Amino acid sequence: MAKGEREGRLPLLLLLLLVLCLLAQSRIAAAATHPQDAAALKSLMRKWSNVPASWRKKSNDPCGDKWDGIECNGANSRVTSLNLFGMNMKGTLSDDIGSLTELRVLDLSSNKDLGGPLTPAIGKLIQLINLALIGCSFSGSVPSELGNLAQLEFFGLNSNQFTGRIPPSLGKLSKVKWLDLADNKLTGLLPNSRDNGAGLDQLLNAEHFHLNQNSLEGPIPEYMFNSSMHLKHILLDRNNFSGTIPSSIGVIPTLEVLRLNNNNFTGRVPAMNNLTKLHVLMLSNNKLSGPMPNLTDMEGLGNVDLSNNSFTPSGVPSWFTELPGLMTLTMQSVGISGKLPQKLFGLRDLQHVILNDNELNDTLDMGNNINDGLDLVDLRNNKITSVTVYSSLDSKLLKLEGNPLCTDSLLSNTLLCTDQLTEFPTMLPFSDVQCPHPFVETIFFRSPSFGDVRKFLPELHDNLSRTVSSCTPNKLGLIPYIDDVYLKVDIKACPVKQKRFNYSQVLNCFNLTLQTYKPPENFGPYYVKSHPYPFHDKASRAILIGVVTGSVLLVVGLALIGLYALRQKKRAKKLVSQNNPFASWGSTPEDIGEAPKLKSARAFTLEELKLSTNDFKQINAIGEGGYGTVYRGKLLDGQLIAIKRSKQGSMQGGLEFKTEIELLSRVHHNNLVGLVGFCFEKGEKMLVYEFISNGTLSEALYGMEGVQLDWSMRLKIALDSARGLAYLHDHANPPIIHRDIKSTNILLDSKMTAKVADFGLSLLVSDSEEGELCTNVKGTLGYLDPEYYMTQQLTAKSDVYSFGVVLLELIVAKPPIYEKKYIVREVKTALDMEDTMYCGLKDVMDPVLYKMGGLLGFPRFVTMALQCVEEVGPDRPKMNNLVREIEMIMQDNGLTPGSMSASSSFSVDSTTRTFAPRYPYSSTSTPSTTYQMDSRAFEYSGGFPSQGSLKNRNTSPKPLNSRERRLPG
Ligand SMILES: *[C@@H]1O[C@H](CO)[C@@H](O)[C@H](O)[C@H]1NC(C)=O
Ligand SMILES: *[C@@H]1O[C@H](CO)[C@@H](O)[C@H](O)[C@H]1NC(C)=O
Ligand SMILES: *[C@@H]1O[C@H](CO)[C@@H](O)[C@H](O)[C@H]1NC(C)=O
Repeated sequence: MAKGEREGRLPLLLLLLLVLCLLAQSRIAAAATHPQDAAALKSLMRKWSNVPASWRKKSNDPCGDKWDGIECNGANSRVTSLNLFGMNMKGTLSDDIGSLTELRVLDLSSNKDLGGPLTPAIGKLIQLINLALIGCSFSGSVPSELGNLAQLEFFGLNSNQFTGRIPPSLGKLSKVKWLDLADNKLTGLLPNSRDNGAGLDQLLNAEHFHLNQNSLEGPIPEYMFNSSMHLKHILLDRNNFSGTIPSSIGVIPTLEVLRLNNNNFTGRVPAMNNLTKLHVLMLSNNKLSGPMPNLTDMEGLGNVDLSNNSFTPSGVPSWFTELPGLMTLTMQSVGISGKLPQKLFGLRDLQHVILNDNELNDTLDMGNNINDGLDLVDLRNNKITSVTVYSSLDSKLLKLEGNPLCTDSLLSNTLLCTDQLTEFPTMLPFSDVQCPHPFVETIFFRSPSFGDVRKFLPELHDNLSRTVSSCTPNKLGLIPYIDDVYLKVDIKACPVKQKRFNYSQVLNCFNLTLQTYKPPENFGPYYVKSHPYPFHDKASRAILIGVVTGSVLLVVGLALIGLYALRQKKRAKKLVSQNNPFASWGSTPEDIGEAPKLKSARAFTLEELKLSTNDFKQINAIGEGGYGTVYRGKLLDGQLIAIKRSKQGSMQGGLEFKTEIELLSRVHHNNLVGLVGFCFEKGEKMLVYEFISNGTLSEALYGMEGVQLDWSMRLKIALDSARGLAYLHDHANPPIIHRDIKSTNILLDSKMTAKVADFGLSLLVSDSEEGELCTNVKGTLGYLDPEYYMTQQLTAKSDVYSFGVVLLELIVAKPPIYEKKYIVREVKTALDMEDTMYCGLKDVMDPVLYKMGGLLGFPRFVTMALQCVEEVGPDRPKMNNLVREIEMIMQDNGLTPGSMSASSSFSVDSTTRTFAPRYPYSSTSTPSTTYQMDSRAFEYSGGFPSQGSLKNRNTSPKPLNSRERRLPG
């Protein structure tokens, strides 16, 4: 029995021993950071304040105790990586760094108070592959011992305070791919092997020479570059280099970005024909002379800036139209003369043309194929005498101030000729996030310019979010801006389910220094600076110490259990609300019923719409009304939108809003403003419409910018709006009465197609088409059907009355109520059908009309308009009859009203026949040719005879709308 017992215990004892042994072993192994490295780290730490919390514990084992930012190799516990990016550390780097001889990565970037001279002991780290001391405050000279780091591939010392020369020994870094000394205070010549024994010309594997923003000087010898090099980026801008640009730059076939701007380069620009991959060429602000460079063969060029040099004055270079990928063309003050070719403005990717202060003359004729993405043509201070303007240019920004054509009284006050601020920076879409402790870092992109930003921003947003969020959950905001021609993007991350990010999250998730994030093509390399992050605040730390007592923990634990059930319940609800934007609809969802049935409208988040409007900046407000404000916005995919944002706490309830969305999403017609989507979030009610670039009909008729609408354009506008309304009345299912037709609700797009907007007051018509609805009178004074006003019986004929008022506005070009006069009464009073030309309306009508002439069909139009404003509904024509009548008037004028879209076509019904006797309709079919607004060019020249009426309309400045300007046409 006893023996058996012993036999039973023995294995147990052995097992226990084994476990103890293993435990001890693991302790020993963990404590085995190589003593040399442990001592070095402890010693480095003595010179630093604000080290990560894990460093502060009394520990002699950085590897085993997992100090933040330390990585070790398993075999002999040597420290191989020291990464303290963005830790807010202060202090200096002591010689002890030289003891960490197994280091592969040394990254102390974004500690702006870490500085002092850089110790030569770094030269002992001969295994180092990545050295990043970016955005600190190191000063003094760059130690020549750095040339000993034979394994180095990444060398980033940019954005410090280094002075003195670049040591020639850097030429020995034969594996280096990335050499960045930008943004320091370096002086002297670039070292080269012929003059200095060693030099940058030996770095045959280097892809990046970033030496911009220093005080480097002197000529650059020919032998600095050669065809064995693999350089992609040469950034020498903003230094004091002089002499000629070495022609050897032209033999590096890999080159993508060449920035030599803001130096003192002289002489001719060497041939660069072989640089077919070059995307960015910046030579501006030098003293370059000789002939204008011929860039014909550089087919990869997207961004060119040759401004402010002393080239021999020349005509417009032929390569202007031969670079298929051109995005921005900047050549200020280089003495170009002549006429710009139309083809330039049709280039597929063109966005900015900046050619101010040259000698361009003759007529500016941009042609009919202007690229849609073109949004800035700056031709200020040239010698242009006339301009041919096309309606498709309307939403573009064309600047012509300081040209002879602007001295003419006709154009001098127009936006073409007045200095406008370029709104570009504020037009970048951005997204912002809010939380008490966001982590913020700025990405500085080295190569893109304006063009790239617009094109690639959506992609950037996408893949940056993915990179940064892959490691720790966060809400990410991106705020891009441009200054000093470089693009910067602030990344703002909010932690999810925690108050702050901790040290290791910052180190592992947000350190992009070593190009771990791959930006879209053409954004090229970047560097990152983090903003100081409050890892903890002193108060909370003190409290924390007090809190860590058993009893408190117990209470908290109990409370947590109690909360758990509650939380589970809430979570279930929350899940539903995330999937359905309407779940949060009002306080009593039961009242509203199910989510709206949407055909094509999309639910936007508040974030998305903030992003598209720059946080609803006032500058993007384009309209104001009782309901709230209309903003202009741009979605990340480039689509322009108009956002109708209800006032917080506006009268419209959730149900009404939902009805409106359902209604709008069903309606699709070329002459109705389309709904893109909506937002219902955090008490916001917003409707998102397609953006109509040319403003309202009322602005066109009597707004300050006075678009000159000729008779045929007015007929077309009448026809378009009639078609839109006929669709609402007859073809929408169920039919819709607009209830608020007025000239401010008729919008004009870039092709001057009219679109009816704002169905906010629309009401579904009940089943019988002529059904009457009893309701509170809604509408706008001046357009209100008197019958409806008195009886409160709403029919489609009330819309016809309002439309008739709009038709009269087209004749009179004044608001319905002006100078205490009512437009309907004025026209009726003056009417004299004996006058076959003007129907007795000459004193009432828009003088532009009779000055321009060509008023064919005018009497018929007047008759039709007055028919619409008959006292009682049954005397008024139906909307579809009006469409026919306007089509006939246009045909008789030799204008083709355009083939009807399938949705707007309708058959002539019995009501047409009863109505027919009042209008002598012919029965010819609709012509099939389309009415081409685009081909109509309107030419204005400096010598155009005065047309006072245009100028008289410019009453008061209207700053909000300045981007929506229309060109006189
Ligand atoms: C351009 O490349 C061709 C062929 O690769 C070569 O013959 C020519 O000399 C090069 N031109 C310049 C200016 O380097
Ligand atoms: C530019 O170079 C010229 C002569 O080459 C010199 O006179 C001038 O001082 C230099 N300017 C600057 C700003 O370095
Ligand atoms: C520019 O270069 C192209 C091709 O190299 C050539 O065909 C063209 O004639 C040149 N243009 C001028 C103005 O020298």
